[in-house]
Amino acid sequence: MNLIITKDYEELSAKAYEIVKKILLEKPDATLGLATGSTPVGLYKLMAADCKKGEVSYKNVKSYNLDEYVGLGVGDEQSYVEFMRKNLFNHIDIDLKNTHLPDGMDADMQKACDRYNEMLANAEIDVQILGIGGNGHIAFNEPGTSFDSVTHIVNLTEKTIEDNARFFDSIDEVPTKAITMGIANIMAAKSIIILASGANKADAVFAAVKGKIDESCPASILRTHKNATFIADIEAASKL
Ligand code: GLP
Repeated sequence: MNLIITKDYEELSAKAYEIVKKILLEKPDATLGLATGSTPVGLYKLMAADCKKGEVSYKNVKSYNLDEYVGLGVGDEQSYVEFMRKNLFNHIDIDLKNTHLPDGMDADMQKACDRYNEMLANAEIDVQILGIGGNGHIAFNEPGTSFDSVTHIVNLTEKTIEDNARFFDSIDEVPTKAITMGIANIMAAKSIIILASGANKADAVFAAVKGKIDESCPASILRTHKNATFIADIEAASKL
């Protein structure tokens, strides 16, 4: 795994975009794996600005997102589908038909998981963007999740619910379940960029980069990927 430590969040976003832009210029019909959370927002702003300038087009790009809350969907402000529209899709020339997220609104959640797995099996993600949870989770794969997992329903841990409460009016509104790509789905991407910013990620970054490769830190598996890049700012990297 390549490790890049940047002086701040701005440089972290710029480094991530450098890699993404190269892929998009080489392959205008690339398939992107996208993530939510506050960390990739800087990268998404750079993608939008460059698209506006006409440097990069998303007309032939497809995207697959990592996860969605169970019970939230289009029209719900805190849903990940709305997050993606607000922070990226509405600002680039991507066709919404080519954007995919797991369906958190299906009455039969197992069917929704199976459908997403099938879609992913027929796609090849050129670059998967990831953030990291304060407990080392990737997507919503909490500590203890099998490295062989595929799209599944998870009960969110208390830590993740607390961490994500800032996006909701109160902690009671945070859904307790989510539908998430599994770790095997994530590892199938041709390349992976994982981003971490801020001191609250320092323990997770340490565990992912220097700890044991095991299921207690889901992000540690990325060290076995053939083309993964970990970009951390100096605060997130402070315990390395
Ligand atoms: C959520 C998302 C993850 C994300 C994590 C960190 O739990 N499911 O994909 O990496 O939050 O979010 P942030 O970047 O806001 O710290």
